[in-house]
Amino acid sequence: MESKCDSKDIALKSFFLGPMAENGDFVTAWLNEILASWIHWRRELNPEDGRAISEEDKNVTEFMEKRSIFHDAMLELNQRYESEISTHSPRYMGHMLSEISLPAIMGHWIALLHNPNNVASEVSRVGIQIEKEAIEDLVKMVGWSPKEAMGHFTSGGSVANFEALFRAREWFKKRHTEKEGVVLVPRNRHYSWFKACKLMGIEESSLWQIDLDHEGKLDPADLERKLAQLEIQGKRAMIVVSVMGTTELGSLDPVHEVNRVLKKYSNSNETPWHHVDAAYGGFFCSIQPKAEEVEFSELKKVMEGLSAVQSMTLDPHKLAYVPYSCGAFICREKPHYYATQTAAPYLENTTEVDRGVFTLEGSRSATGPSATWLSARVMGFHADGLGRVLKKTVSSQKEFESEIKLKVPDAYVLDVGMTNILGLVIAKKGEPLSVTNQRTKALYQAFSPQARGPFIVSKTILKKADYGKFIQTVSSEWSSVLDQEELYVLRLCLMNPFLMSKEMNGKFFHEFCVEIKKAAQLS
Ligand SMILES: Cc1ncc(COP(=O)(O)O)c(C=O)c1O
Repeated sequence: MESKCDSKDIALKSFFLGPMAENGDFVTAWLNEILASWIHWRRELNPEDGRAISEEDKNVTEFMEKRSIFHDAMLELNQRYESEISTHSPRYMGHMLSEISLPAIMGHWIALLHNPNNVASEVSRVGIQIEKEAIEDLVKMVGWSPKEAMGHFTSGGSVANFEALFRAREWFKKRHTEKEGVVLVPRNRHYSWFKACKLMGIEESSLWQIDLDHEGKLDPADLERKLAQLEIQGKRAMIVVSVMGTTELGSLDPVHEVNRVLKKYSNSNETPWHHVDAAYGGFFCSIQPKAEEVEFSELKKVMEGLSAVQSMTLDPHKLAYVPYSCGAFICREKPHYYATQTAAPYLENTTEVDRGVFTLEGSRSATGPSATWLSARVMGFHADGLGRVLKKTVSSQKEFESEIKLKVPDAYVLDVGMTNILGLVIAKKGEPLSVTNQRTKALYQAFSPQARGPFIVSKTILKKADYGKFIQTVSSEWSSVLDQEELYVLRLCLMNPFLMSKEMNGKFFHEFCVEIKKAAQLS
């Protein structure tokens, strides 16, 4: 638990509403300020046009009836949402979502009121400019040059991954007309890569999976083997994907090592397209680790590797605390971004900010870009802003691990290096994996949203076919008998900025240990 709060940490508290809506006073005032300004702006825009809705209209019975139906339905909707899963609470440790930040809410909301369409500057004068600037903020965060890079916002990480494959395939087709292109993804990949291949008609035989090492990370030696195999078969990699922050456990693939291997397989000075799916872990870049911070040395190396990759997926709606739907696809160099375009005769696409002919999606909201833009201005994607928040989530993972190991008998926390996701298994020495899995399933039931218990966690299933070496390593800790093809794991995404708050009455880690111990005895 945090022992004292320094003033820089206190400053972070201005970025969030707070678990008890502690910042509700100024948020209410500011929302009203923006709403009043929006109303004033409309009234001032073309006053000579006159009023379409008069005061008399508002007194007509039918108008009043409709308004009353509207109000009732709105309150009903609002009330229904009060039963929504309370993902803002530190007690929610389930999937990759948590509290959303105030700058992000305000940015989102301002754009929502104006509702531009970022498909083209013809329908988005400001929104599209904000998108360009927000992309530059992301590009700078990952260490690239805003002059050379290019990208756009997507509805999420899946679509950003589609954008990468879409371009890599076009890039490949133009350069290697005579060769078959193969998609290489690590076995810890997000399932959107399978969707992308199906969507683009890429056969299963052209989708090769790179094996994982004993930490569940992309194994560069296997990548090398696969690339050599491709050469023998007269094929070539169309794209190689590594993951920065895996979906299952939040671990970092060795991006720098992948670059090293790819360099060996470069052809006429061109390495295969390397895409980093950093939907989850990309915002760890804001930590800006220093050389002396050994606990972040893995992150530092991965970040250094980003300087040589072709493209990245980033999801502000995950670790940047931005509301849905907000993903981003960025290319380090413009030619890769412009690898393909589709003409749209009805759209004016004339300036550099016009992305419409380059994006897979058509109409696109300015809400995500504006939320990200305001977050970058207010919180900052650097060590004293978002980086400071994320650093705390990483230390909370370590602290939680120690507490669980101390207080929960037979608990095993999966070690995957630097992350803020905690993988947990409770297992008795020598028991078959089937028994351990049964227990994990029961524990998940007890801590699932349906159970409405004191905490919510998620679970994942690691398949031996994908995570074989990793499962072997971790299960050897409790000398498991591997009688099943998969390992069930409780998955806790420790993203909430207030999880370690010393001011709150709930000592969450301690209470979780008590609860899981109770549940494990029953299961
Ligand atoms: C590594 C990774 N890539 C891509 C995605 C897909 O993101 P989205 O759900 O925003 O489409 C996820 C989602 O969890 C992910 O973890």
